Amino acid sequence: HSAFRKLVVANWKMHGSLAFNQALVEGYLQGLQALPQTDVVVCVPYPYLAQMQSLLSGSRVAWGAQNLAKYEQGAYTGEVSADMLRDFGVQYVIIGHSERSTAYCESDENIAEKFMMAKRHGLTPILCVGETLLEREAGVMERVVGKQLETIIRLFGGGAFTEAIISYEPIWAIGTGLAATAEQAVSMHQFIRDTVASADQAAAATLKILYGGSVNPQNAVQLLNQKEIDGALVGRCSLDVEQFIKICQASP
Ligand code: G3P
Repeated sequence: HSAFRKLVVANWKMHGSLAFNQALVEGYLQGLQALPQTDVVVCVPYPYLAQMQSLLSGSRVAWGAQNLAKYEQGAYTGEVSADMLRDFGVQYVIIGHSERSTAYCESDENIAEKFMMAKRHGLTPILCVGETLLEREAGVMERVVGKQLETIIRLFGGGAFTEAIISYEPIWAIGTGLAATAEQAVSMHQFIRDTVASADQAAAATLKILYGGSVNPQNAVQLLNQKEIDGALVGRCSLDVEQFIKICQASP
């Protein structure tokens, strides 16, 4: 699986402004000129998708959203549909980020439906999976992540993972400064690929698996040089040009 080009995804979460975003993506584009080997995606709050479309069209940076509705259209106040995202040139969408599933009580079934909605509309889902600290300490992390994957496999089959992206984001590593070790990440990435492969071997071979959780320029070198780690989903350090470019630079 080292055959994939490394993919670095910025997740700005609820940060940014028109002026801040413009400076940030211009910085990305400039820094990336020297880094032709890395693919980059920036996932922004909904109101800034139009800005990304105008700043990034025709560039090598793609843009994405951080959520989408599980419905096609209708009386769902405050929701945003896959078609709407497509209107703004969106190619990627983060699904099931723990900051959403915890705060808004999203179930695995809900997340699975959003995942399929993205696929049906030609968007590449970036499905976040991961365990809490208590679950890791209890040694049940594979069971937890396995259940998140099994929900999609049960409802839609393993083929749903064809050309999809999964991001392993241990909840204890998000925003804490405490990233998983390369060893912990590699072992979970292998488990994820094996789980998908046992449902659909061909799909598993096309699946990219990213790591997310306190990725910074220092730990990125180790993490991104593992063949099981196809890239990174970066929160805090994506808000700073220099740090983000250094992370991209860390990928072989
Ligand atoms: O989606 C990325 C993420 O949750 C990690 O955030 O700030 O720990 O890099 P951060």
